[in-house]
Amino acid sequence: MKVERSNKSAQSNAMWGGRFSGGPAAIMEEINASIDFDKRMAPQDIAGSIAHVSMLAETGILTRTDAKKIIAGLENIRTEIEAGAFTFSRALEDVHMNIEARLVELIGPVAGKLHTARSRNDQVATDFRLYIRDAIDQIDAGLAALQTELSTKALAHAETVMPGFTHLQTAQPVTFGHHCLAYVEMLTRDRSRFTDARKRLNECPLGTAALAGTSFPIDRKATSAALGFDRPSANSLDAVADRDFVLETLAAAAISAMHLTRMAEEIVIWASAEFAFITLSDKFTTGSSIMPQKRNPDAAELVRAKVGRVAAGFNSLLTVMKGLPLAYSKDMQEDKEVTFDALDSFVLMLAAMTGMVADMEPNVDKLRQSAARGYSTATDLADWLVRALGMPFREAHHVTGEIVSEAEARKLALHELPLAVMTAVDGRITDEVYAVLSVENSVRSRTSYGGTAPQNVRKMARRWIKRLEKEQSAR
Ligand code: ARG
Repeated sequence: MKVERSNKSAQSNAMWGGRFSGGPAAIMEEINASIDFDKRMAPQDIAGSIAHVSMLAETGILTRTDAKKIIAGLENIRTEIEAGAFTFSRALEDVHMNIEARLVELIGPVAGKLHTARSRNDQVATDFRLYIRDAIDQIDAGLAALQTELSTKALAHAETVMPGFTHLQTAQPVTFGHHCLAYVEMLTRDRSRFTDARKRLNECPLGTAALAGTSFPIDRKATSAALGFDRPSANSLDAVADRDFVLETLAAAAISAMHLTRMAEEIVIWASAEFAFITLSDKFTTGSSIMPQKRNPDAAELVRAKVGRVAAGFNSLLTVMKGLPLAYSKDMQEDKEVTFDALDSFVLMLAAMTGMVADMEPNVDKLRQSAARGYSTATDLADWLVRALGMPFREAHHVTGEIVSEAEARKLALHELPLAVMTAVDGRITDEVYAVLSVENSVRSRTSYGGTAPQNVRKMARRWIKRLEKEQSAR
């Protein structure tokens, strides 16, 4: 027997409008609707629903016939969405209700059984976890790709000498490869932060329902396993109220984005005519509409700028979550837009940086010249005084300071300074000192573990390349 339900008002919501006699104000729809941005979770929403319905059939809560109809309908919807043939409606608020309403159109009232033992609260928590999990996997692959480019550059330029800076003042010569590998280390920590977040994220909220769990004999382990989660979440209130997994991911993204901006800043400096340390490819620079000579490092500048969006996403969501009482509050709908923007921006930064690094060419001669400037081997001279003459380091530092000022007065580099000038400062200095004053010898001598010596860099770069290749083939 078919029972007709009277709709008190044609405008009241088809999903929850039972007790309503009128529709929402236009401005209510405007502030309430999330479909414009949460529609991108449609694949996750459908996967979650299919897992849920399959479990409802397994446990006998739904008949197999009903479950089959629902699953077929959901698969239809997936195809429609993939084909761009699905019409999302703001009146239906969000992705969950848009899909359910379409299901009703496709298979009739049996569609209403899908929402048994479930609420949008556990549904959205599940969808978002699945979405973030996918995002983390994509980001990890992106970070690995950048590491690969950096390691490849490092191996090619294990011997290329450049000035190392502190305070952006010439400090000591280093190798270009060593500089590249510094970023590989940072990105490794970034990746482990994402991996760590993913581990904690991988619990399934589905079946915790609105906030209290459900009286239906559901099998939460089954849905958890079907969706690739490690286990069902243990407390229903926490499960629907928690957004830590997004915050952790955004925090990891913000830190990693910060690393990318340091790299971007160096690229901007290095590509300037004053430094001319690197040449960027045409693919990642733009010209000026008025100054024909210009090649602007726009991609690097935009990477440097976009960290704002990533950090803002973290800050925004942290502020949304602050002080929210348990369990779900509609405030939490504000989690998605900022997260999507932050993670999209980060993925773009990553891709642009990978392209720039792959294409940039270090100007080996210019780097070497600069490395020799600014008395960059003064520490090598002091170390030699300690080693060869048994001088205490503090005294050696002082003697070296005097020699540097003599060189400065004569406008000569340390290796150009006549021996007589040095022996006038300390009579025990011999011409063996010249061996340590060249930038090549300086870097070659830095063989301590983690030091800049070409032999270290070559070994490390090879190790990274091998490790990243192995990872890549396991993906
Ligand atoms: N669109 C909502 C969100 O993103 C889904 C959950 C709504 N739940 C509710 N009880 N109104 O948070």
